[in-house]
Amino acid sequence: MQKIVVSGGAPLEGEVRISGAKNAVLPILCATLLADGPVEIGNVPHLHDVRTTARLLGGLGAGIGHDIEAGIVRVDPRTVDSHLAPYDMVKTMRASVLVLGPLLAKHGEAEVSLPGGCAIGSRPVDLHIKALEALGAEIVVEHGFIKARAGRLRGGHVVFPMVSVGATENVLMAATLADGTTVIDNAAREPEIVDLADCLRAMGADIEGAGTSQIIVRGVDRLRGATHQVIADRIETGTFLVAGAMTRGRVVATHARPDTLDAVIGKLADAGADVTIDGDRITVDMRGRRPKAVDIVTEPHPGFPTDMQAQFMAMNCVAEGTGTIDETIFENRFMHVNELMRLGADIHIEGHRATVRGVERLSGAPVMATDLRASASLILAGLVADGETVIDRIYHLDRGYERIEQKLSGLGARIRRID
Ligand code: EPZ
Repeated sequence: MQKIVVSGGAPLEGEVRISGAKNAVLPILCATLLADGPVEIGNVPHLHDVRTTARLLGGLGAGIGHDIEAGIVRVDPRTVDSHLAPYDMVKTMRASVLVLGPLLAKHGEAEVSLPGGCAIGSRPVDLHIKALEALGAEIVVEHGFIKARAGRLRGGHVVFPMVSVGATENVLMAATLADGTTVIDNAAREPEIVDLADCLRAMGADIEGAGTSQIIVRGVDRLRGATHQVIADRIETGTFLVAGAMTRGRVVATHARPDTLDAVIGKLADAGADVTIDGDRITVDMRGRRPKAVDIVTEPHPGFPTDMQAQFMAMNCVAEGTGTIDETIFENRFMHVNELMRLGADIHIEGHRATVRGVERLSGAPVMATDLRASASLILAGLVADGETVIDRIYHLDRGYERIEQKLSGLGARIRRID
């Protein structure tokens, strides 16, 4: 089992190149199943979840070419001959459920293992199923599988009772090949959905309103192969900017998309950071200053992203003053709290609210990662803790961050991976 060892104390200084977004490339890879020709995707991050999704598509029979160094994945869906996403695949990555809509729309059938829950919550898929049924799919859930069938899907009106990124993506992809027009109300507005829609439009889909809460899709008979560059990862960007702020350094994120980070940049400014934007470069300068505590409420985009909650909690742990953090999206996304308290953090949880009283210094200790973003928050805390912090179960980390220790070392962090 690999671990990461961080020695605290060094302010981070320098530039870090941001990779393509995990939460954009995963649905986009699934969308390739809709095409009648090969799709080439660029700016693909080198992540465990990307390899898992490529394996899933290969298992369905698609041709896969993956040039990891170049960040390019080519998918040829013309050889797809299976419509089964097996349990052993789905249990390692719940985003596998995103093949449901494309397989149903393109092949009229799909059998996808029910994704289990995960550390941050039960994460049901009832909204995915209801939305696809609104397009005429017949779906039964039995023996741990979602079994879906459809003649040709027909355009329908989907009204989500609550915002769901994955369910919006599944029904958006399915609607592109449905007969007629689909209106999706209360759609998720995340930038990754806009990127998915951009890719689908490059393939010939007729979509308007992506990024707003109403998306209108006019079904077409077929989608062609295309080329698409994945959007920069806003959560990776936010993670490095918080690292710069809480270590009282100066970090420049390059190849970023500042327009996808308004809420995060606003909170960094509230913490006292000097944030400047120049094209695709975002600079956070906190040299010589201690961050001030900030209050966070996680919300669907364009609100403050739940995927940045753990990172800001780490910053609040060493900030001046007391900050409250309300997690409204997931029911159990405070798994990092106990680990941060092992490092000397002063955190009190009441329901969905964590109250964090900043301390002068944290002290390094062995801790355990529980989920992807919790892993990141423990590394950030280790960067400002006295002595060494050893983080175990870092396989969570490799699912969502490309070469994080190299990128942090490039900023002056004392960090290494050990077996
Ligand atoms: C996506 O997950 C992201 N994953 C998550 O990022 C992110 O935290 C989340 O959106 C919210 O922004 C990917 O894009 C691969 P949801 P998703 O459906 O689609 C409930 C990370 O760290 N819900 O918007 O699964 C659900 O339980 C990961 O990169 C239902 O009740 O999130 C949750 O409480 C973590 N029924 C809320 O909605 C459903 O059918 C939001 O979930 C679907 C969701």
